[in-house]
Amino acid sequence: MKKVVVLGATGSIGTTFLNAVREKKIDATVCALVAHSSIDKLIELSKEFNCPYALNKDNFDLESFIRAQKADMVLNGIAGAEGLKASIATINAGVNLSLANKESVVMGGDWFLSYAKNRNVKIYPVDSEHSAIYHLLKGHTGVASLVITASGGPFLGRKNLDNIKWQEAVKHPTWNMGRKISIDSATLANKGLEVIEAGFLFSMDAKDIEVTIHRQSVIHSMIRLTNGSVYAQMSPPDMTLPILAAVNEDAETLSGSVRPLSFENLTLTFQAWDREEFPLLSTAYSCLERKGSYPIAFNASDEVAVGLFLDDSIRFTDIATIVRRTIDEYNWDDTCNSLEEILKMDNKARIVSREIADGLLLK
Ligand SMILES: NC(=O)c1ccc[n+]([C@@H]2O[C@H](COP(=O)([O-])OP(=O)(O)OC[C@H]3O[C@@H](n4cnc5c(N)ncnc54)[C@H](OP(=O)(O)O)[C@@H]3O)[C@@H](O)[C@H]2O)c1
Repeated sequence: MKKVVVLGATGSIGTTFLNAVREKKIDATVCALVAHSSIDKLIELSKEFNCPYALNKDNFDLESFIRAQKADMVLNGIAGAEGLKASIATINAGVNLSLANKESVVMGGDWFLSYAKNRNVKIYPVDSEHSAIYHLLKGHTGVASLVITASGGPFLGRKNLDNIKWQEAVKHPTWNMGRKISIDSATLANKGLEVIEAGFLFSMDAKDIEVTIHRQSVIHSMIRLTNGSVYAQMSPPDMTLPILAAVNEDAETLSGSVRPLSFENLTLTFQAWDREEFPLLSTAYSCLERKGSYPIAFNASDEVAVGLFLDDSIRFTDIATIVRRTIDEYNWDDTCNSLEEILKMDNKARIVSREIADGLLLK
């Protein structure tokens, strides 16, 4: 039975995984739980799963904690840039990683993937789109492009988004997720992060990654082959399957993880995304093309801007303005080759983004 450490145990990804363990959908035990501040919930969970817990803050030594558990797998469901440090702690502890924290790949890029590879640590993507592509690629050669699906979020086609409040923006049409990723789904910054993540994970150029709007979130992604065929992975919009496929290191031997997909009354639609409606997706594409520290700056400025929006300090539409100006008005050409360099660059981008935001607030 696989022993799993759950990072971000109190969040949306952590909760979905713990529910699957409760329902015995996977042959796994939870051997430790980690979160940041939700102490009461963690204590409750640690009693239920009969395992140690920890709050990852104030110089907590996460690497030693993970090492002590003698785990087979770490599920990283931490939200945001903090997740990169936790991924590195996992790799240093020599434990394979089921990675929901897309920021680890976006910020760490090629350096991060080589860091894991050089230490023989395997990384299994949890994002439903990347899980779909990961499994589709196993069975096919001659891949021309990846096709990532996007729900389009709650405001697709809506004009004048200036007065949107975050309470409205977090209501995603098909997925129930944490606040940051839900806001990012409304701006399509999340799809931008996923395009960058896919570029690094699957060694694809930005021009070979397509995004199509697919409202039903039933097709999680596709691959287009040079021979003209397109292969899709379909399942109900439920994160249980991609999380379990990663933790299990294999999707085929799972059974009953999600309800069977019904074709009765199932309509699948696709539409092109509009560059003016979703400027952050265009910006993310240019960050993947330019590489260097552009992906780090994109992620950092989006985190700053979404944080300000969640504090009611800026308007919904200011998020894109802050991120675009951070990317367009500064030089992020330098490549980072260590955790320290990445965190320094991340900090620089946050300072720049806050200055831009302050300028907007003074107007
Ligand atoms: N939700 C989804 O369906 C989904 C799908 C695909 C990918 N993802 C990715 O998965 C990640 C998590 O998303 P989420 O929606 O699950 O977020 P979430 O619901 O906001 O949960 C975040 C979790 O991270 C913990 N946390 C925050 N900072 C931490 C730190 N420094 N150390 C340890 N734990 C920390 C939080 O603990 P406290 O409760 O103590 O603050 C909480 O348990 C993100 O990168 C997201 O993009 C999510």
